[in-house]
Amino acid sequence: MNIFARKSLDELNEEAKAEGAGTLQRHLGPVNLILLGIGAIIGAGLFVRTAAAAAGHAGPSVTLSFIVAAVGCALAGMCYAEFSAMTPVSGSAYTYSYATMGELFAWIIGWDLVLEYALGAATVAIAWSQYLNKFIESFIGPGWVIPYQYCHSPFESVMIDGKQISGVINLPAIFILLLLTLILVRGIKESAVFNAIVVSVKVLIVVLFIALGWQFMNPANHTPFIPETTTIKDAVTGQEHAFGGLWGILGGAGVVFFAFIGFDAVSTVAQETKKPERDMPIGILGSLIVCTVLYILFSWVLTGIAPYQDFGDPTKGKEASVAYAIQTYMTGYGWLGRFITVAILFGFSSVILVMLLGQSRVFYSMARDGLVPKVFSELHPVFHTPAKSNWIFFVFVALFAAFVPDSVVGDMTSIGTLFAFALVSIGIIIMRKSDPDAPRPFRTPLVPLVPILAVLVCGSMIAGLGWGNWMRLAVWLAIGMVIYFTYGVRNSRVQLSRR
Ligand code: ALA
Repeated sequence: MNIFARKSLDELNEEAKAEGAGTLQRHLGPVNLILLGIGAIIGAGLFVRTAAAAAGHAGPSVTLSFIVAAVGCALAGMCYAEFSAMTPVSGSAYTYSYATMGELFAWIIGWDLVLEYALGAATVAIAWSQYLNKFIESFIGPGWVIPYQYCHSPFESVMIDGKQISGVINLPAIFILLLLTLILVRGIKESAVFNAIVVSVKVLIVVLFIALGWQFMNPANHTPFIPETTTIKDAVTGQEHAFGGLWGILGGAGVVFFAFIGFDAVSTVAQETKKPERDMPIGILGSLIVCTVLYILFSWVLTGIAPYQDFGDPTKGKEASVAYAIQTYMTGYGWLGRFITVAILFGFSSVILVMLLGQSRVFYSMARDGLVPKVFSELHPVFHTPAKSNWIFFVFVALFAAFVPDSVVGDMTSIGTLFAFALVSIGIIIMRKSDPDAPRPFRTPLVPLVPILAVLVCGSMIAGLGWGNWMRLAVWLAIGMVIYFTYGVRNSRVQLSRR
């Protein structure tokens, strides 16, 4: 048994040919890549988690949290780009870590990506449910909104007219996941036109909010910009963590990091890019820069319009925070709130779809490698999609979306992804030593400085997320280790072929 067994580049080439990936056309240029990145990036992180980070960690200095998160992503993004341009298959961090760092690393990353994709999908589905209620309230009437019990997890409660009401199950979140799973099972063609429309609408609502909201900012809401350091208790988990000061900014960065997740999607299409050595960094950094500028301005305006305390109050702006801020503080702009609500319902759906798709692709590859059961790589006889895998993940994701609060699944998504980023960055240093001569169409600049900085910045965000999240990550990884050593090691195709 060699848990560090690596797939050779030849093996990857074989697989690429078998899957037709070797014949992928190199047709994407830098603009396509930037659009692809923005399409996958802007979502619940901006429209829900920003307000949560302000209320729970950083106050108005959530704007600085965005800068920290962006720096971490840019550093790790450079490392992703080197890996993805190096291995000849289009795939995720899982695929290229198998070829470069060996099976155990690949397993940890693949297992960890479940947090990014599956729990990420759950988080956005919960956010979708919040905006669905806003939609019903604005377009149909407040009498028709879904009762609190049926759109919240059992761990959440609210005081309405002196009565405490607790959540039971989040039905709208299950509904949207079901709908999108049905679409995935039937198979979708990624349409460039549709993507371009969704991206334009998303960028438009962000720009409109910034431009129109600017005049409603109240300087008092930004004073003090960085709140005094204190500790606060999380209303859901009961755990204490830092609020304000440097730790508040770092904790906030860990939370809003969620808003950047998805830019690694750019690195997965390296094989379809005309000039990866030039276009990869442009695509990754370009989409990051556009989003960072938008996010900084957006969070600045949002925390300027409404006091951040509103975003912690379930009877005020804790949910559908952006629509709340517009309706409450931007008199005369009700139409903008309604437009944003509709756009968000569509925009979030495309993010959920990408995440569910990413999840089934990663497990498809892992099943082909024998690390998880074959059921995840079985294709539907008619639709040729991994339908069974889609359904299994529907159940898994829906359980989280239905019964766990968004703050918990959102932070688990962030911490899992940050951990994967740190591993990939370490991998670059290892690879430069173990395979110095392998062809590298794109080279991470200033190795080992950039990967080390990536690990430090991602590590500081992990630290800022607090011990409750560290424990959850540790438990998740421990479960993964048990599965690997009881199942993966014994069934791994690479291991069996080496016996
Ligand atoms: N970055 C994506 C979002 O914010 C995951 O929804």
